[in-house]
Amino acid sequence: MADRGRFAEQLRDARAEFDAPVTGVLSLLALADADSEEKTGTVAPTLALVQALGDAGVEAPLWCATQGAVTTGGSDPLAHPAQAQVWGLGQVAALEHPDRWGGLVDLPEQLDERGAAHLRAVLAAAHGGEDQVAIRAAGVLARRLTRAAGSSGTGWQPRGTVLITGGTGALGAHVARWAAENGADHLVLASRRGGEAAPGAAALGDELAALGVTATFAACDVSDPESVRSLVAEHPRLTAVVHTAGSLDDGVLDHLTADRLDHVLRPKVTAAALLDRCTRHLDLDAFVLFSSAAATFGNEGQANYAAANAHLDALAQQRQALGLPATSVAWGPGRTPVWRRGTRRRSSCTAAGSPRCPRTSRSPRWPRPSATALRP
Ligand SMILES: NC(=O)c1ccc[n+]([C@@H]2O[C@H](COP(=O)([O-])OP(=O)(O)OC[C@H]3O[C@@H](n4cnc5c(N)ncnc54)[C@H](OP(=O)(O)O)[C@@H]3O)[C@@H](O)[C@H]2O)c1
Repeated sequence: MADRGRFAEQLRDARAEFDAPVTGVLSLLALADADSEEKTGTVAPTLALVQALGDAGVEAPLWCATQGAVTTGGSDPLAHPAQAQVWGLGQVAALEHPDRWGGLVDLPEQLDERGAAHLRAVLAAAHGGEDQVAIRAAGVLARRLTRAAGSSGTGWQPRGTVLITGGTGALGAHVARWAAENGADHLVLASRRGGEAAPGAAALGDELAALGVTATFAACDVSDPESVRSLVAEHPRLTAVVHTAGSLDDGVLDHLTADRLDHVLRPKVTAAALLDRCTRHLDLDAFVLFSSAAATFGNEGQANYAAANAHLDALAQQRQALGLPATSVAWGPGRTPVWRRGTRRRSSCTAAGSPRCPRTSRSPRWPRPSATALRP
């Protein structure tokens, strides 16, 4: 990672210059990237800082500030989904480095005197040790997990043409079958390998045809702007998008690199931002993003994955605030792991040698009732 060495050097220099122990670190790195929603690198400097603090032997708690990366309610729309990557990474940093993790604080657009006083109080742990907070005019709001309100609407009824990215993957194929059984008459299944090379694609096509549904297998890298523009242009009557494309590159924070971040962020984050932008002119019934509980709870060895999925969750919230359809499904633990039924998805920590990285502990599945999650 480009900045890791420089950060470590600066930290060592600062310590030498001030000749005093570091008692806390507040990072404003995420704020610098407020407007680059499609860039995968928003979280990269924060990762470099976490690594550099370790390299420089700084044990003081690190707090990461963002601005508009979370929403506290209807009157407070989420402004910068890209900064939510830092919230995802933070969940994992808290698990991997609890000894030197402080927390996450989302700042208001304008930090006035009162807000600054709140910030000082948060950093001094005056709020009962809350480590995930938003500072707003109303005061300091702490993050809580609450039960989702039941849907009051009729839910999403697939119809017409539905685009499923990663449509030849484990969950993408399940979504395709479900959409075919529930009303779609044309499915566009996009993946880099397309229908020719993706394992199981031919059998899936036969299955969907037997259900009376046409499947178009598109060889398309959904993180490539031109490819996404063309794909959407080729299917102007799209009624829904289900973005399941994704890939893993697990490793503990200390072993992650810019490339390993990019590998995971690109197919999720860049692609989601492109799909969002390229379908705004369509009157979609549903815009579904496949996310992970790792973004909410963290999972050791998955900081890049948590960052990417936190961005997806935030993008869905931003779209909802704009009145656009959006559902982010945070897949979590289940009793029948998908990978046990013959898929290739496994959490792997071997890529760049990650000695302390456990295999992912949560194994999602696709039980039929899970399809109800797609009904907003
Ligand atoms: N299954 C789980 O355990 C689990 C748990 C939590 C969340 N999720 C989420 O659910 C989604 C689906 O998971 P899965 O298990 O079905 O994954 P999977 O079997 O590995 O399938 C991923 C699919 O994404 C496609 N893909 C990857 N990069 C792409 C790109 N740049 N452009 C287009 N297609 C791309 C792959 O095809 P190509 O390689 O041919 O491109 C493949 O079809 C993922 O977003 C994942 O994060 C899954």
